[in-house]
Amino acid sequence: MSAPVLRVEGLSKRFAAPGGGVIGAVNDVSFTLAAGETLGLVGESGSGKSTLGRCVLRLTAPSEGRVIFMGQDITSVPEARCRPLRANMQMVFQDPWAALNPRMTARDLIEEPLMLHTRLSRAERRDEATRLGLRVRLPSAMLDRYPSELSGGQQQRVCIARAIATKPALIVLDEPTSSLDLSVRAGILDLLAELKEETGAAMLFITHDLGTLRLMADRVMVMYLGRVVEQATAAEVFERPAHPYTQALMSAHLPADPAVPLARHVLRGEIPSPINLPPGCGFASRCPVAIPACRERLPPLEELAPGHRAACLRVADGGNRIPS
Ligand SMILES: Nc1ncnc2c1ncn2[C@@H]1O[C@H](COP(=O)(O)OP(=O)(O)O)[C@@H](O)[C@H]1O
Ligand code: SF4
Ligand SMILES: [Mg+2]
Repeated sequence: MSAPVLRVEGLSKRFAAPGGGVIGAVNDVSFTLAAGETLGLVGESGSGKSTLGRCVLRLTAPSEGRVIFMGQDITSVPEARCRPLRANMQMVFQDPWAALNPRMTARDLIEEPLMLHTRLSRAERRDEATRLGLRVRLPSAMLDRYPSELSGGQQQRVCIARAIATKPALIVLDEPTSSLDLSVRAGILDLLAELKEETGAAMLFITHDLGTLRLMADRVMVMYLGRVVEQATAAEVFERPAHPYTQALMSAHLPADPAVPLARHVLRGEIPSPINLPPGCGFASRCPVAIPACRERLPPLEELAPGHRAACLRVADGGNRIPS
């Protein structure tokens, strides 16, 4: 197998909490990502998904661990040497409006990465921006508009064109459709699914929408309170979720077929504060099958089947299944 595009080893990111104490936003996360592969990163709000994405792209410095991108340890590459990396790793954010300079036209915005990272002439850049615009289904007349003259969906298409302009090896997408109207989400997702096939880029796709996960992800990583609680192929996660939290997530997803019985496990209990986390399993306060040991010991991420790992003490005794 060829070397992975991205290898993350034991990555942690801590923030100082405003009132004192430490927020463990990301805790000891490891994974790899191959060319052409999309890893879906799922978990509820506050579970550390965006922080992990930002650490991977060196937009935030990790507190611990390593990020190896195309064979190079980039964990502590000085900022000045990051520019060539930036061409090769791109991000699409949740809110396109915040990501776009309102004083630049769509064309200028799409040309910007080409200007920074390629040697194309002005005319070549113009042609390439037109081609990229068409690729993301923005007709050339629209390229003369400013972000304020575009809809949210069209703004996100500009962001996507910018992200693919330099043919990056890795694209991190942080909930790219969640700020958009429901009516335009499907079109953007279809475009991203096409680009996944076409560009061969490795994608880290952050979402909390299981439909998106099903469409985009080859493998899935489930996070809870900054830790990975389950990692598997998308098919395994949907068919045989092992961690009680993943089971709860999956059952909250309404089956498309109304004849399928609903096994909805509503999570009770609060998510613990990420500040100064107690020992033991982070899910213990909400887990329907928790036992006393869960509050004492941190469950290790253990392999259940090739490529399928889960962090639950009750996998060993088969008690991890939430009764439906
Ligand atoms: N810059 C920051 N300073 C302090 N705390 C932060 C910062 N960024 C994120 N956090 C905290 O880290 C945790 C994870 O946040 P985030 O990565 O945004 O989660 P998600 O993207 O899964 O919603 C949250 O508790 C959040 O409040
Ligand atoms: S380790 Fe215990 S609390 Fe955590 S998910 Fe498993 S059974 Fe639930
Ligand atoms: Mg986020």
